[in-house]
Amino acid sequence: MREKVLVTGGAGFIGSHLVRFWLKEDPSVVIVNLDKLAYSGDLSRLEEVKSHPRYEFYKGDVCEPRDVEEAIKGCSTVVHLAAETHVDRSLLNGEVFFQTNTIGTYCLLEAARKAGVQKFLLVSTDEVYGSRKTGFFKEMDRLSPTSPYSVSKTAADLLTLSYAHTYGLHTMVTRGSNTFGPYQYPEKVIPLFTAKALSDEKLPLYGDGRQVRNWIDVEDHCRAILHVLKKGKKGEAYNVSTPFYLTNLELARRILRILGKPVSLIQRVKDRPGHDRRYALSSRKLRALGWRERFRFEESLRRTVRWYRENKAWWKAIKEKSAEFKEYYAKAYAGRV
Ligand SMILES: NC(=O)c1ccc[n+]([C@@H]2O[C@H](COP(=O)([O-])OP(=O)(O)OC[C@H]3O[C@@H](n4cnc5c(N)ncnc54)[C@H](O)[C@@H]3O)[C@@H](O)[C@H]2O)c1
Repeated sequence: MREKVLVTGGAGFIGSHLVRFWLKEDPSVVIVNLDKLAYSGDLSRLEEVKSHPRYEFYKGDVCEPRDVEEAIKGCSTVVHLAAETHVDRSLLNGEVFFQTNTIGTYCLLEAARKAGVQKFLLVSTDEVYGSRKTGFFKEMDRLSPTSPYSVSKTAADLLTLSYAHTYGLHTMVTRGSNTFGPYQYPEKVIPLFTAKALSDEKLPLYGDGRQVRNWIDVEDHCRAILHVLKKGKKGEAYNVSTPFYLTNLELARRILRILGKPVSLIQRVKDRPGHDRRYALSSRKLRALGWRERFRFEESLRRTVRWYRENKAWWKAIKEKSAEFKEYYAKAYAGRV
């Protein structure tokens, strides 16, 4: 029997990997992709499945009840990824983050409740916990988000869990760490540094570069989402993280090493306001459900950097054609370098 599922934000980085991976892994699933095609949405990521018999694209906004009600018809499961996702942008204009991430999640939850959806999973983020100097955040720890992006996601995260408690909807949340792989929008740090290095331009490193991040391959993140969907408990949150921690400075050095470029390309720029120092999650709860990452960081980083080297046309088109991208960079780095 076929099962129809709704994926929101499927034209984005993680969403498009999830759509392709899920179609390949599960022959019983029919995927409806609801995406507004905001600046970071790009259907070229889904070129290979666009005519797939078990895939449908619905262009629409998660904040528009009519779009959501139309797209969700007949779906028994919702995986909600659609979001504004770039912290730096949220520091320039936070409004759209609350609109899409918080109000959009509310619209979807309401539609899911009315449509009798059986499972609803929100893809949340490690940033809901904020920073900590030592140790690892567990799911029951206090959430202390520090940017408009992470606050808007925290509201969505808690709202999603409240629907299990209040309405009995089978909701779940995954809190994933920094994700990387092919097709990530080139404003994010790995594609940004790689693209800069490939063009022999300076890599803009915030502050002292000693901020620590946990990294996960996009395919491992997608596996974790599907694992929680299958095995996770109603009303529960699950951290998604790996043993791979790195400072941003070390990340820049490794990318340069892979490409055979000099470390002199690293240029320190003024730190971003409120920059979280260290993200660190315990994924014990998810591992107890049987999930394990398959990829080691170094191997995934090499594969990813190679992909950007071999697919320059994809990210160059975004950088060159997108007025949005240019305008953002003019603002984000004004007076910083
Ligand atoms: N990238 C990461 O490192 C990371 C880590 C943890 C969690 N997450 C979460 O995973 C999800 C996906 O992240 P990503 O990196 O793929 O983001 P992305 O920016 O690449 O993709 C977001 C997608 O959402 C769509 N979208 C935006 N506003 C919309 C709206 N109003 N209605 C419908 N669609 C809309 C965009 O068009 C785009 O396709 C987000 O919820 C993010 O918070 C990301």
